[in-house]
Amino acid sequence: MHLQHSHASISEASIQQFLQHPDMPVSANLCLCSPKVGETVYVSSACGGGVQLVGQFAKMMGCYVVGSASTEEKVNLSRTKFGFDDAFNYKEHDLAAALKRYFPEGIDIYFDNVGCKMLDEVILHMKPHGRIAACGMISQYNLEEPEGIHTEGKLVHVEDIAEGLENASSALIGVFHGHNVGRKAVRVASG
Ligand SMILES: NC(=O)c1ccc[n+]([C@@H]2O[C@H](COP(=O)([O-])OP(=O)(O)OC[C@H]3O[C@@H](n4cnc5c(N)ncnc54)[C@H](OP(=O)(O)O)[C@@H]3O)[C@@H](O)[C@H]2O)c1
Repeated sequence: MHLQHSHASISEASIQQFLQHPDMPVSANLCLCSPKVGETVYVSSACGGGVQLVGQFAKMMGCYVVGSASTEEKVNLSRTKFGFDDAFNYKEHDLAAALKRYFPEGIDIYFDNVGCKMLDEVILHMKPHGRIAACGMISQYNLEEPEGIHTEGKLVHVEDIAEGLENASSALIGVFHGHNVGRKAVRVASG
């Protein structure tokens, strides 16, 4: 837990509340990004159960926080009840334009709950040395085929599969002789 990295004053009670809250597993991902005073933080699904806490903790740590959500009601809640610096409706605004408007200097930390297309766009707006907490990919869970640059042919990934456990040792030795192209794996059963 690196809350003290922020140099902001956070009470012991806040930290205790943070640790005891049922949504702590989601919120804890923020600490992995070591937020610092003055850094810019973008939070998607801003009103989600765990995520609403993330934005508030980022504010306590002295960050500038902008969230996005799918309705005006959630956008207003983010600004008023949760105290984010700003929020926008990602269904009603062009994401690239919104990110440029709210983060003209770029994003230091992206707390990602959505994944894929939104993540692809946010990456283009990250500052050098920015950090992304890959908390979840809720946009993908009910899809038959995942979206994003992987499925648009913009990124290609090659694996080198050896068939059968009997070939495992030669597969491993082959790696040290450069016989593999990409990650070497051994298929021991097909599902
Ligand atoms: N890493 C961990 O330890 C951990 C633990 C629990 C959950 N998670 C992940 O954290 C994320 C948020 O979970 P939560 O429990 O805080 O959320 P939650 O309270 O269940 O809220 C989920 C929100 O996600 C948004 N959403 C739903 N479908 C979407 C879609 N197709 N595209 C984009 N947004 C969609 C909706 O917000 P809008 O109306 O604003 O779109 C919805 O209110 C999820 O990705 C979940 O898998 C991670």
